[in-house]
Amino acid sequence: MARILVTGGAGYIGSHTCLELLHAGHEVIVFDNLSNSCEESLIRVQKLANKALVFVKGDIRDQKGLDQVFQDHSIDAVIHFAGLKAVGESQQIPLTYFDHNIAGSVQLMQSMEKAGVFTLVFSSSATVYDEANISPLNEDMPTGMPSNNYGYTKLIVEQMLQKLAQADARWSIALLRYFNPVGAHKSGQIGEDPQGIPNNLMPYVTQVAVGRREKLSIYGNDYDTVDGTGVRDYIHVVDLANAHLCALNNRLSAQGCRAWNVGTGNGSSVLQVKNTFEQVNGVPVAFEFASRREGDVATSFADNARAIAELGWQPQFTLEDMLADSWNWQKQNPNGFN
Ligand code: NAD
Ligand code: UD1
Repeated sequence: MARILVTGGAGYIGSHTCLELLHAGHEVIVFDNLSNSCEESLIRVQKLANKALVFVKGDIRDQKGLDQVFQDHSIDAVIHFAGLKAVGESQQIPLTYFDHNIAGSVQLMQSMEKAGVFTLVFSSSATVYDEANISPLNEDMPTGMPSNNYGYTKLIVEQMLQKLAQADARWSIALLRYFNPVGAHKSGQIGEDPQGIPNNLMPYVTQVAVGRREKLSIYGNDYDTVDGTGVRDYIHVVDLANAHLCALNNRLSAQGCRAWNVGTGNGSSVLQVKNTFEQVNGVPVAFEFASRREGDVATSFADNARAIAELGWQPQFTLEDMLADSWNWQKQNPNGFN
C-alpha cells in the first residue's frame, strides 16, 4: 500500500486511475481545480470502490496549496494528470497552456522536492514523437516539435523531467506516452465528459449516436491508409489506468527517468471505428467526409513492447470493448455528469 497524490484526479483518465488505485489497496489524495471536471466523478469512484479517497480542491500553480497537501499527507508518490488538453484552444491562448502545463508542472516538482517525494508518473502523449517517424512508434525514436502548443507543453515537461532526473539521482520518473484513450469503466458510472464541442473522435461519435450532434465529420478520406481515413491506436482507459499502477510499482524501486508507450499496438481507421461502433452497439452514426484537419498525420500507432516487457503491463480490452463501454457511459449519462 502506498499513499498516492493524484493531480487532475477528477478528470477522465484520473478518475479511472483513482478507481484502480483504490481497488489495489492504495490511499488516494486527489488535487484538482475542477476546471475541466466535477466532484461527482470522485463521488462515483468512491461508491464503485466502496472506499473513500481524500479530495483537495486546488490549483497546481498555487505553491502554498500544494505544499500544504504534502504537509498534511505523507505522500509516497505522485501521478500527475493536471493540465489543459484542448489542441485548438492551445493555439488561441498559448500562455495559458504554458502556465498550467509547464509552470504548473514546475511548481509540482518544487513542492515534491521540498517534501522529499521523488517518485512521479507523468501523463505524456504520443504527440511528442517526430512526425517523420513511421509507426509502430517506439520509445527510442526521436521526438520532434509538435504541431500545436499543447503538444509542445508535453515535450517541454518531458525534457525538464529528464534533466531533473539526470541532475539528482533521488528522482524516479515515468513518462507515459498515451496513444488515444477511449472507453469507460464497465459500470458506465464514470467516463469522458468533454465541455462544449468535442475535439476528439470518440466523444463526437457517442454524442452523434445519442442525438446531441447531427453528424460526424470525418477529417480526410484521401490518406494513404486502409480506407483513406486516419489511423490511430485506441486504448481502453481502464488499460491505461492500469499502466499507471504498473509504472508506479516500477518506479517505487528504480531511479532515473524513462518513457513508455501506452497503446495496444493496433491501428484502427476512423471508418473502422465508426462502423465497428454501429455494429457493436446497434446505433447509427451519421457522417460526412470533410477536408483534412490541420496538424493530423495519416497513421500513428504504438510499439508497446517496452511497457509489456518492463512494466508487466498488458492491455486487456479490444476495440469492440472500448466502443461498447464508451456507448454504455454515454447512454446512461447523455449529458455527462450534469
Ligand atoms: P481531463 O481534462 O479530463 O483531466 C485533467 C484534470 O486536470 C481535470 O480534472 C482538470 O480540472 C484538472 N486541471 C487542469 N488544470 C489544472 C490545474 N492548473 N490545477 C489543478 N487541476 C487542474 O483530461 P484527461 O483526458 O483525463 O487527461 C489527463 C492528462 O493526460 C492530461 O495531462 C492530458 O494532457 C494527458 N493526455 C490526455 C490524452 C487524452 O486523449 N485524453 C492523451 C494524451 C495525454
Ligand atoms: C489529438 C491531438 C493530440 C492529442 C490527442 C488527445 C491533434 C492534431 N492531435 O490526437 O495532440 O494528444 O488528440 O487529446 O489534434 N477525427 C475525425 N473527426 C472528428 C474528430 C477526429 O475524423 O470529429 C479523426 C482525426 O482526423 C484522427 C482520428 O479521428 O484521424 C482521431 O482524432 P482525435 O481523437 O482528435 O485524436 P488525435 O488526432 O490522434
